[in-house]
Amino acid sequence: MKIAVISYSFTGNNDRLAASVAQDLSATHIKITPRKPMTMGNIILDMIFSRTPKVEPDPDSLQQYDLILFFAPVWMGHIASPLRAYWNYLKSTPQAYGFFSISGGADNGNPKLLAELLKRTGAEPSIMLDQHIKGFLPQNSKTTRNDTSAYKISETEARYLSSIAIKEINKLIHTDKQ
Ligand SMILES: Cc1cc2nc3c(=O)[nH]c(=O)nc-3n(C[C@H](O)[C@H](O)[C@H](O)COP(=O)(O)O)c2cc1C
Repeated sequence: MKIAVISYSFTGNNDRLAASVAQDLSATHIKITPRKPMTMGNIILDMIFSRTPKVEPDPDSLQQYDLILFFAPVWMGHIASPLRAYWNYLKSTPQAYGFFSISGGADNGNPKLLAELLKRTGAEPSIMLDQHIKGFLPQNSKTTRNDTSAYKISETEARYLSSIAIKEINKLIHTDKQ
């Protein structure tokens, strides 16, 4: 099975997790780069007005893969906007895909992610995992969005989260083979 790991990251966490998963799966890792650099202002406008930023590489390059695993942060309850060009592509050219995120998790999780994927791609993901930074912070005080947004996961944390993701991916791959 030919697998692509595709990631977008604003502060490094999702790229780090994606790199670890790609290494474990011996999969190609492609990083998405917006043509205009993302800023906090752009992020907020993209989320409010549902904008789709132009990105590299072009999603056409996905055709050669059997399974595409996307990694990106959650912003204001939505999947990061640089993935939208890829969701549009999947809507017109359906392919098996999964979605993974390391998000903050400070706001009671992100309950709308599955509905967003379904709406944007027209199909449910074969696998979805939203892992939270909140779990790495001390549990004795109220964790705020500022605490989680500032947090950069370590290599050890990335490997730990990656091992959880790999278990789920292996279940999917082995179920598909039966
Ligand atoms: C503008 C902004 C909005 C965010 N909104 C959410 C949110 O709604 N839910 C959440 O769990 N985390 C939220 N976060 C936290 C990020 O998802 C988290 O810091 C993530 O690990 C960043 O990933 P990255 O390093 O790959 O960019 C937000 C971060 C930013 C910068």
